[in-house]
Amino acid sequence: MTEKRSSFTGKIGFVLAAAGSAVGLGNIWRFPYLAAKYGGGIFLLVYLILAVTFGFALMCAEIAIGRKTGQSAINAFKTLDKRFGFLGVVAAIIPAIILPYYSVIGGWVSKYLFAFVSGDAAASAADSYFTDFISKPFEPIGWFLIFIGLTALVVLFGVEKGIEKVSKVMMPVLVVLTIGIAVYSVTIDGAMEGVKYYLMPDFSRFSATTVLAAMGQLFYSMSLAMGIMITYGSYMKKEVSIEKSVHQIEIFDTGIAFLAGLMIIPAVFAFSGGDEAALGKGPSLMFITLPKVFNSMPAGTVIGVVFFLLVLFAALTSSISLMETVVSIVRDKLGWGRKTACILVFVFCIMLGIPSSLGFGVWDFITVAGLSILDMFDFVSNSVLMPIVAFLTCIFIGYVIKPKAIIEEIEIGAPFKAKTLFTVIIKYVAPVCIILILISSILDVLGIAKI
Ligand code: PHE
Repeated sequence: MTEKRSSFTGKIGFVLAAAGSAVGLGNIWRFPYLAAKYGGGIFLLVYLILAVTFGFALMCAEIAIGRKTGQSAINAFKTLDKRFGFLGVVAAIIPAIILPYYSVIGGWVSKYLFAFVSGDAAASAADSYFTDFISKPFEPIGWFLIFIGLTALVVLFGVEKGIEKVSKVMMPVLVVLTIGIAVYSVTIDGAMEGVKYYLMPDFSRFSATTVLAAMGQLFYSMSLAMGIMITYGSYMKKEVSIEKSVHQIEIFDTGIAFLAGLMIIPAVFAFSGGDEAALGKGPSLMFITLPKVFNSMPAGTVIGVVFFLLVLFAALTSSISLMETVVSIVRDKLGWGRKTACILVFVFCIMLGIPSSLGFGVWDFITVAGLSILDMFDFVSNSVLMPIVAFLTCIFIGYVIKPKAIIEEIEIGAPFKAKTLFTVIIKYVAPVCIILILISSILDVLGIAKI
């Protein structure tokens, strides 16, 4: 390597950057819509339990692997055991697949922010506004280029001057804006029903699919099983406590997801007169339903601007972590400098991002198993590759290098309080659950069973 491996300056820098990766579109758009779909309070409860057990163990493991080896995912596994080098390669492919299409969605968010800022809020509430926009050949690509360009700029500045600085500003702003809108949202007339639906668990709605959906969301939301936390761990100083940092990242990630639910579910409930169906619309919840909700509010334009600004911040810090992971892999593999690696990754993203965007318009005839190009990238990375990597990572730690190797690394900083929980989850609970997620998501897309 030509340049010295950079690192986060301290504890706060690491936690904010890792939380920046974790908090993203998954928290603000996907979490509320899943919570609404799977019974509100009961989903929230299951999610919280999984976060402090499952999510905690896996995140500790990934960060420790990164810090122990000082390498990005592609080399980290190989350094620990030659036979598992392939796992690093698979893990490395995931962020490279996600980054282009995530940036296409980031481009949509930028467009909505612009629409609200430029006084187009009312127009964006029209039924066909979203589909008209994403099916255009050039405009969404333009917004995608702006989004990926901004991401590349931050990554170009490096870990300390780019990622850490940006996260230190954007993350606190994000928290303040989210709390502000959540407070506003629960005080709207008719919102209380939605608050109840979201907070009171209805145990009759508990089922295995609630657990599977919550677990899938947890992986995505915590940016697990794709080498991101390994890469960030490799930039972490030895004296920082991994266990405490993971607790803080989780509080951030789960806290923002929780507040996003509180911001969206009651508002949509009030707007639709308590109709749950209005919540279960998937991608269209953020881009079609919410603009309508904002349009019906007295200060809707301002709220809309604030909302899309915070979504943009959340999406940007996540795309930065994706790009940094890919860049660091290219650098570790080819020994290139940061700048050259950034340019290569940028060009690669454009090549995959443009088809993903066109897949909603002129190229909509290209589908695989009924999925558009963007959805296909999403499915392959999140529903197939991520569970495979998560499963093999557990097997690798549980039975090849043994949990002790990770526990020792964690204990360099401070005693590892939850080590028994950690060992049980990594060796037994996680592998079984992950295989179930994988099977269920594959059956789902094949249309054999619906989760
Ligand atoms: N964790 C981020 C979110 O919740 C998304 C993300 C996924 C980020 C994959 C990086 C990699 O939106």
